[in-house]
Amino acid sequence: MRIIITENYEEMSFKATQILASQVILKPNSVLGLATGSTPEGMYKGLIKYYREKLIDFSLITTINLDEYYGIKAENEQSYHYYMNKNLFSKININKKNIHIPLSQAKDIEKECKNYDHLIESVGGIDLQVLGIGQNGHIGFNEPDIKFEARTHLVNLDKSTIEANSRFFNDSHDVPKMAISMGIKNIMQSKKIVLLASGIEKSEAIFQMVKGPITPNLPASVLQLHPDVVLIIDKKAASKL
Ligand code: F6R
Repeated sequence: MRIIITENYEEMSFKATQILASQVILKPNSVLGLATGSTPEGMYKGLIKYYREKLIDFSLITTINLDEYYGIKAENEQSYHYYMNKNLFSKININKKNIHIPLSQAKDIEKECKNYDHLIESVGGIDLQVLGIGQNGHIGFNEPDIKFEARTHLVNLDKSTIEANSRFFNDSHDVPKMAISMGIKNIMQSKKIVLLASGIEKSEAIFQMVKGPITPNLPASVLQLHPDVVLIIDKKAASKL
């Protein structure tokens, strides 16, 4: 596990932008695994800037998002479909056909999960997976006690995750309690992983992920077993290392 500690969020975002941009330049038809949330927003802004400056081209890129809230409509402003469109896809030249996010309104969720696994296989696997991390050590929405062999599945969100996500909702009753998420197995099969974290509230999860035992109680700890992981974390998130 390589660890890059940055001064602040801006520098974390800049370094992440550079890594993603290098991937796109080196392999223009890369499959990128993408995350939502506050952490990667700066990186997405950086990628849009590079695209506008004609430094990178997304026309052959495929994207596969980690997760989506269960039962939410794609046009709902809180959905991850909406987030991705607003923060990245509407501002770059990606082919819409190459964008993939779990369809959490699918009638047959089990089938949707299987289809998502097949999709990941059919595009040849994920070249570079971007991850954030929850305060409880979740990656994607693989909450503590997850089975490491899990693939895409329906998840009951942890109380702490629901609380953390409530900052994006006006009414706490609207905060989704379930999500569809890629499993640990899907994530671990990615060729490369970049995990981003910023802020003191992530410091304990970062410490446990890097220095603690490998355990389903702290899902991100499994990344110790992956051969190509880069953590880009700011000083505050790294403060307990
Ligand atoms: C989002 C995702 C989650 C977030 C995590 C951190 O697609 O999979 O694991 O990365 O909850 O969220 P933020 O960045 O908002 O702190």
